[in-house]
Amino acid sequence: MGDVLRFITCGSVDDGKSTLIGRLLWESKQVFEDHLSALERDSTRYGTQGDAIDFALLVDGLQSEREQSITIDVAYRFFATPRRRFIVADTPGHEQYTRNMATGASTSELAVLVVNAGKGLQVQTHRHARIVSLLGIRHLAMAINKMDLVDWDQEVFDRIVEEFRPVVRELGFQSFQPIPVSALNGDNITESSAAAPWYKGPTLLNYLEEVDATTDVPDLKFRMAVQLVNRPTHDFRGYCGRIASGQVKAGDRVRVVPGGQETKIRSIVAWQSELPSASAGESVTLCLADEVDVSRGSVLSTAGDPVDLSDQFEARVICLSGHHLVAGRSYLMNLHTAQAVATITAIKHRVDARTGSHEAARALEMNDIGVVNVSTDRAVPFEPYERCRRLGSFILVDRITNETVGAGMVDFSLRRAANIHWQHVDINKQARAEQKLQKPVCLWFTGLSASGKSTIANLLEKRVFAAGKHTYMLDGDNVRHGLNRDLGFTEADRTENIRRVTEVARLMVDAGLVTIVSFISPYRAERELARSRFEAGEFIEVFVDTPLEICEQRDPKGLYAKARRGDLKNFTGIDSDYEPPVSPEVHLRTASEPVEQCVDRILQMLEQAGKREEKAQ
Ligand code: ADX
Repeated sequence: MGDVLRFITCGSVDDGKSTLIGRLLWESKQVFEDHLSALERDSTRYGTQGDAIDFALLVDGLQSEREQSITIDVAYRFFATPRRRFIVADTPGHEQYTRNMATGASTSELAVLVVNAGKGLQVQTHRHARIVSLLGIRHLAMAINKMDLVDWDQEVFDRIVEEFRPVVRELGFQSFQPIPVSALNGDNITESSAAAPWYKGPTLLNYLEEVDATTDVPDLKFRMAVQLVNRPTHDFRGYCGRIASGQVKAGDRVRVVPGGQETKIRSIVAWQSELPSASAGESVTLCLADEVDVSRGSVLSTAGDPVDLSDQFEARVICLSGHHLVAGRSYLMNLHTAQAVATITAIKHRVDARTGSHEAARALEMNDIGVVNVSTDRAVPFEPYERCRRLGSFILVDRITNETVGAGMVDFSLRRAANIHWQHVDINKQARAEQKLQKPVCLWFTGLSASGKSTIANLLEKRVFAAGKHTYMLDGDNVRHGLNRDLGFTEADRTENIRRVTEVARLMVDAGLVTIVSFISPYRAERELARSRFEAGEFIEVFVDTPLEICEQRDPKGLYAKARRGDLKNFTGIDSDYEPPVSPEVHLRTASEPVEQCVDRILQMLEQAGKREEKAQ
């Protein structure tokens, strides 16, 4: 049996897409017997007349989908002919399900757009073409369906094709094959139709069997991301993975990225036998001639032409979740087998999937596609997605909920990454701290507006200062008058507010100061990011826990009243979320604890931490 072609089908609800896929599966004789009899029963039950089988039922698997009569998720289906095996990603045509389509398209090499001949090109057709193009699909078939309903009129077909050609050019598809079909009657799906003698092209199945749909650069040299370091016995060490591109032979010189060490391939092992060579798509274990530093996420590549390495990228990202993708927020990034903490440093623009126009955006919402800058906490090996999909695509995972929130494609590395280096300085944090006879820390106060953060922080600073320590306080209201005067209170702005303050606090701790930060900082993700920017023990989260009712009673600036009246939008606690800390170092309940006692508790905590550290040294 030949190779595998992965393709995606797109079309609007009533274009007949499900019938078309059902027909493909049916006619390639891959329908299982039991599935078939269930289908006959269902066809009767769901109102299809006579003995005809409703092919759409073969595809629309879920009851709820039947009830809505739209397909609501990606379903992968398999079929085969003697020439090729196929994996079809079947995705919904409904507008709000762009993300599902993107999921399907990301694993596909080709797209079949289904168009209803009677209706012609729809807004959805343009949208789908643009999304599959953004996802790197370069080969497109257009099944112009329901030709029987327009009497197989060649003019109808030609008009649709001509209208679509400029889109094909604009979106850079390498091949485009329009095919007139009737999925219901089975014309031009697997058998040429006598109804359209004017059509000389292939049937849909012929086309799928023959098309060369590879998208990766054909001459890309050997690259393999290491998935597993295999050490079953003391004297065997193999690196397992799937070859992403090129070819490898025993004796080839390879380089490890990152790390940069060079060595030779000693042997290639697959299923317990040795192979002289292996190529893209194969899963193998490679043994190397020398002991080198390789771990999961390293890429082995041709020594003279190694894979790139960077910690800053421009990428296209699709937001897959109800949680926005926000500039300044950090996520876990899985790029091939490597993992890093990635921050979206800037959203350059959002792409309108229908028109392709660029729009300014501070956050990406579910189904949005945007071009962003991403920076990672370590350099990761990669290839641009256009050159190699396997080494250029990634997902972004929420660090707290573990939800996959985005999928992305690396466009290129931002060269700045290679050009900005750390400046070595002789006077460092330790020297500054010793001179001041203190341990620098960041005391991070979080809580609702009017919870008492500033009052407690203020008294704390006075006490620490009186004890001869060097301090500085960063307060939300004050910093928002200067450094952050350009920021408001949307989720994106607050995220950026906290990111900047985190970096300033970090510099202050580096300067050796006892740094007190007092910001609402409503989101867990940013507080965790802040924590991750400090050394262990340096970041102390102080939760000023005051019930909303009490904050609202206090209301020193009259802001709660304004927010309740609707004159102040996005007010924390009213119409904007506050996510309380899960395990803060200090938990203050101001409803029952006086301010002095709160401060005492923080000081005690600092003292104990200091003692623990002395003991440890
Ligand atoms: S944060 O959410 O981004 O951390 P920050 O601590 O900087 O907020 O600023 C909060 C202060 O801004 C509040 O104490 C209040 O005085 C003022 N403020 C004005 N508008 C809002 C709002 N919509 N939500 C919360 N605070 C607001």
